[in-house]
Amino acid sequence: MSTFENGSGTRELTGKRALVTGGTRGIGAAVVRQLLDAGAEVLTTARSATRTAPQGATFVAADVRTRAGAQALAAAAQETLGGVDILVHNAGGGRPYKGASAVPDEEWQDALDLNFLAAVRLDALLTPGMRERRSGTIVHVSSAAVRTPAGPFLHYTAAKAALENYSRGLAPELAPSGIRVNTVSPGRTATPGRTATPGGEETRERWAHLDLAPGVVNAGDTAPLGRDGRPEDIADTVLFLVTERAGWLTGSNLVVDGGEFPRG
Ligand SMILES: NC(=O)c1ccc[n+]([C@@H]2O[C@H](COP(=O)([O-])OP(=O)(O)OC[C@H]3O[C@@H](n4cnc5c(N)ncnc54)[C@H](OP(=O)(O)O)[C@@H]3O)[C@@H](O)[C@H]2O)c1
Repeated sequence: MSTFENGSGTRELTGKRALVTGGTRGIGAAVVRQLLDAGAEVLTTARSATRTAPQGATFVAADVRTRAGAQALAAAAQETLGGVDILVHNAGGGRPYKGASAVPDEEWQDALDLNFLAAVRLDALLTPGMRERRSGTIVHVSSAAVRTPAGPFLHYTAAKAALENYSRGLAPELAPSGIRVNTVSPGRTATPGRTATPGGEETRERWAHLDLAPGVVNAGDTAPLGRDGRPEDIADTVLFLVTERAGWLTGSNLVVDGGEFPRG
């Protein structure tokens, strides 16, 4: 029996319809691949399609930072899937600034739109259908770095902290309707998004003018388990959360970071 098969030999997520934001590369692409392997039908989105987008998923271009983008995505989900059983908010990120006061207003707004409000808006659009079916599961992707808010990514970690707080509060609200809400917080994970920020080998020089602390720049050598995360490490946890194996888990935040960031 494969990992994704249930006792009767069918794949664990057969018949489930999933929407994954930011599924064309990195963690999102790994989540899409695992959902497909488990038998789900998958719709994913990004602002632009890439050659690395997983085969087998339906792709629709949308910018999740805007209300119009969220509405277009919800409409596409209804049209192509007929509804959503599994919603994974993975699109996120932020570029560094030298201190909070250097972050322009529009970048604060952008960080909130991408890392927090996109999830709030899409949840509001898609949970009515889940409530009707009295079933659904939502995963919000945050960041382990919320536990050490500082320096160049404060706008990003503040937005992710809002996401975690919202996620924890949404869980008991939706639980009576049979909907589970959980968060996954990755540590430093080797993805294209990561190589575009300090710590990424390709771009150490690009951000040299920011004079960032070594802790920001170093990657896997700081994790007790001794390596960067792989997108699949995060996707494994997301997959677990959306299956019935996690049927008694809601309001949780699973930190997947090789033991690097402080707990509690
Ligand atoms: N990698 C890490 O070390 C790490 C650590 C902690 C948390 N995380 C979190 O994990 C998630 C995935 O990170 P990643 O490193 O895999 O990112 P990534 O490699 O940069 O990929 C991001 C994905 O999201 C899409 N995207 C970005 N902005 C979007 C927008 N406005 N609308 C729609 N799609 C958008 C991208 O496609 P387009 O650019 O074409 O839109 C891409 O498919 C993020 O929420 C990130 O904050 C990552």
